[in-house]
Amino acid sequence: MRRLIISLVALVVAISAVASGPKRSTKALYLDPNAPLEERVEDALSRMTLREKIAIIHAQSKFSSPGVPRLGIAELWCTDGPHGIRPEVLWDEWEQACWTNDSCTAYPALTCLAATWNRDMAELYGVSIGEEARYREKDVLLGPGVNIYRSPLCGRNFEYMGEDPYLASEMVVPYVKGVQSQGVAACVKHFALNNEELYRHQVDVELSDRALFEIYLPAFEAAVKRGGAWSIMGSYNKYQGTYACHNDRLLNQILKGMWQFDGVVISDWGGTHSTEEAIRNGLDLEFGSWTDGLTEGASNAYDNYYMALPYLRLIESGAVGAEELDEKVRRVLRLTFRTAMNQNKPYGAMCSEEHIEAARTIGEEGIVLLQNKRSNLPIAKDAKRIVVVGENAVKMMTVGGGSSSLKVKHECSPLEGLQRHYEGRAEVVWVRGYVGDVTGDYNGVVTGQNLEDNRTKEELIAEAVAEARTADHVIFVGGLNKSEKQDCEGADRTQYGLPYAQDELIRALAAETKHLTVVLVSGNAVAMPWLGDVESVVQAWYLGSESGNALARVLSGDVNPSGKLPFTFGVKLEDYPSHSGECTFPNPDKAYYHDDIFVGYRGFEERGTKPLFAFGHGLSYTTFKYSNLRLSSATMSADETLTATVTVTNTGRRSGKEVVQLYVGDAESAQPRPNKELKEFAKVELQPGESKDVTFDISADKLCYYSIEVGGWVVEPGEFVLYVGASSADVRLKGEFTFR
Ligand code: BGC
Repeated sequence: MRRLIISLVALVVAISAVASGPKRSTKALYLDPNAPLEERVEDALSRMTLREKIAIIHAQSKFSSPGVPRLGIAELWCTDGPHGIRPEVLWDEWEQACWTNDSCTAYPALTCLAATWNRDMAELYGVSIGEEARYREKDVLLGPGVNIYRSPLCGRNFEYMGEDPYLASEMVVPYVKGVQSQGVAACVKHFALNNEELYRHQVDVELSDRALFEIYLPAFEAAVKRGGAWSIMGSYNKYQGTYACHNDRLLNQILKGMWQFDGVVISDWGGTHSTEEAIRNGLDLEFGSWTDGLTEGASNAYDNYYMALPYLRLIESGAVGAEELDEKVRRVLRLTFRTAMNQNKPYGAMCSEEHIEAARTIGEEGIVLLQNKRSNLPIAKDAKRIVVVGENAVKMMTVGGGSSSLKVKHECSPLEGLQRHYEGRAEVVWVRGYVGDVTGDYNGVVTGQNLEDNRTKEELIAEAVAEARTADHVIFVGGLNKSEKQDCEGADRTQYGLPYAQDELIRALAAETKHLTVVLVSGNAVAMPWLGDVESVVQAWYLGSESGNALARVLSGDVNPSGKLPFTFGVKLEDYPSHSGECTFPNPDKAYYHDDIFVGYRGFEERGTKPLFAFGHGLSYTTFKYSNLRLSSATMSADETLTATVTVTNTGRRSGKEVVQLYVGDAESAQPRPNKELKEFAKVELQPGESKDVTFDISADKLCYYSIEVGGWVVEPGEFVLYVGASSADVRLKGEFTFR
């Protein structure tokens, strides 16, 4: 309805512009979808009053900005993001609006998407969630998040794409393009260095430029330069003493200067702290501020925003000019024309069959088989009694976790998925095993599940063990959940180990059965002190609406697992470079990134620490052989591209997909460099016995490091090593060449 009114106003404006003669232009150029975008922007800008310009750069409600009603310029509506479309809240509040038509499809969390190592899955994800956003008339999707996995304690890792800048870059680009193909802007977040949660509103991050450019920025840069992202969300934290939402270096110099970003910098909700800095330092659109005396002295609370009346007064008093304002308005108009007023945008769709299938397929491809002794999985065809143990087998996981919390049309739990899958073939029973989080609501969305259970730990374990004794296969489904201090926004985990005495339970189960599969539902690595006692371990992330169906298809063998870890699983917390030595975490004040570029596997390898499961690791029900690595040349120069081709063969009896990974190492360097870094990967599908050649291009930019002295990327002449393998720790073939 609102859109209809806006369109009618636009029509009237267009007619009156024609009728009122050639004051400016006789034609409302900005309303002409066929006119060049920049001309439309300038035309609209020239028609706006100062107050209209001020109005368009800050919120009018929790999730919208007002547009220019007089000119028929549409409002902008934002939504979280990034795993599904958030249910509607009240105009001015975080409380639920209690609509009955805003249930969405929950897609797997972004850690799972990253674990697919499949760019096509990222595109499918982007298009599907973009369609749901469009259907709900949203213009800006607040996601995806690409903050780097630095510590396994960060409560928000589940919303991000892992520890490696190359993997995150490759996955974010198709996601952004997919979303934007629907006339919905991706808002890539949180820019930048939001790597911990508890003190996110105050922590001041210090790190070397080398770590900044090599590790923490590449995914944002890729989203902007290759993905063409139309908006970016500034993060809450400070960088070099200034809040990231109005940080000159991050926003003006790097994002808008070096990367030529022409979109809108949107503040995280409440991330703006200063009118002067917001004016000068690159913030374009302010959301979520909670200023003192919000309702005092102004008819509209939003007038008190930093970029509202305080900005207007500075301009009217002559203290600042209108130049920065015009630039912000241009960007907001550009975003509006690209989204809300995009005449070619599709209608979108909600919870379609295709969306459900997309959610399931992405989940299936992202599930990682970490360990599988004695071919314990897939579950034997003749299994007659399957015992499922653990709260996470039944707990709804789409509700909770913070701003990514959803209200779903349906969610199939692991237990339901298994029961449905084995109906008529095997008995699938469930026992509780442990009691974790029983709250069952987030921000007004209630699961309706009653998970209360007052039995003691001993009673719960005894019951589970008794059931396990009679089972053909025991599936423990545990891990973390979306409650505070687990995988949840606003706080960090307080321990690396599993909570709720799960370790004890797993050990007790392992003592009873030789067919134990541990399924971990989490977005973070956890300690596994029982690893040697169990047969199989499956990393199942948060899989969204189709959790149970995706999991059942993998455990039963209908789908051959092909996910690979997007971050390292360490044995213990101190093994993580970020948690060694002088580490303080979480940081209420300064966070100094002493691990520098040695984040994740880069650091584990540098220090010779053996991980529990390496970055890139993931097993299959079949086996793959790598052979015949050949390079197109033994030398290359800056303007040449080398190709590396490897033959991969499925040597097992099932068809399967393998992620072939290529890492590059600089044999000798003036600067410390990681032993090797991921620079290419490809996912290939192979039938039993089938071989395929996989070819990678290696250009000079894949050999570079960021030089602080030069202030840019440098490649040193000399020997380089290519490592081709099935994970960062499972290198099958090596090649060498000289860069001249
Ligand atoms: C989160 C953002 C989110 C925003 C709006 C903030 O607290 O950090 O990721 O998009 O809220 O809900």
